[in-house]
Amino acid sequence: MPKVFVTRIIPDAGINKLTRAGYEVHLNPEDRVLQKDELIGLLEKERYDAVLALLTDKLDKDIFKAAGPQCKIFSNMAVGFDNVDLDAAKEMQIMVSNTPGVLTDTVAEHTFALLLAIAHRISEADNFTRAGKYHGWEPMMLLGSDVSKKTLGIIGLGRIGSRVAYHARKGFDMNVIYYDVKRSEDFEREFGATFSSDVEGVLKAADFVSIHVPLMEQTRHLINAERLKLMKKSAYLINTSRGPIIDEKALAGALKSGIIRGAALDVFEAEPKVEPELLKLNNVILTPHIASATEETRDKMAELAAFNIIEALEGRTPPNLVK
Ligand code: DGY
Repeated sequence: MPKVFVTRIIPDAGINKLTRAGYEVHLNPEDRVLQKDELIGLLEKERYDAVLALLTDKLDKDIFKAAGPQCKIFSNMAVGFDNVDLDAAKEMQIMVSNTPGVLTDTVAEHTFALLLAIAHRISEADNFTRAGKYHGWEPMMLLGSDVSKKTLGIIGLGRIGSRVAYHARKGFDMNVIYYDVKRSEDFEREFGATFSSDVEGVLKAADFVSIHVPLMEQTRHLINAERLKLMKKSAYLINTSRGPIIDEKALAGALKSGIIRGAALDVFEAEPKVEPELLKLNNVILTPHIASATEETRDKMAELAAFNIIEALEGRTPPNLVK
């Protein structure tokens, strides 16, 4: 019976899919990220045919070596795969897959939740009310910023970026300006959107900037101190992609000195750490990498990660191989 190792407790939907397919599933019994040497130890102890891993597992050559030649696939339960050394996987002839598509709506919803929350100062207002500071309606209390008819800047027009643009245009009548390495005239026609051939053009024009690029060497610190200075003083920055795309120290400085008005982040440069200066600020909302965290979506992610394994072990090409 083929054996699958799952690096952490995931929704039953994924485990059941594997057991129904006739596989023996071994689960990390502890609900925490395994240290590299722990994962290596577990992979060396038993011969696994596949590993279902998470974005918190750093998958490098040592891990692939420990898994040995019997292991066909590492199935990452995430759309992002910056935790995987793809060159090493290729060298070791191990397939790597991800879970795109099933989390698009949920991440786009969370992005919009953050955007609305920072513009309408929801966290601040909630804290204010709970602290007993609300003593009656005031004309100047907790003034935020409108969203409708403003300009949304999208950096990275993949599935999630496009879906955020859809909500912006259809729900809030926003103007959309975007940057991507690939221009989409269909998207421009459908959403009345404007293409910018560089990131700078988006930063200068937008009232809200939302980041949707994958983390790669070229996108690390894409948003740095110089680029933050290009944004409007009244603008907000939202990030639900990967933390290292923003220089967090530079962002904290820009928020503190009023270079931009606010930010909302679901991801951080050195997760689970958060830049301490950000924690002191009221004009930033921080959520703990939960943009895809709904029951429905996490079930679908687990099922898709399992499906990629089944396809690989049955000798078919998994639908979500990453190159
Ligand atoms: C992903 O899938 O890459 C998200 O960051 C986690 O949901």
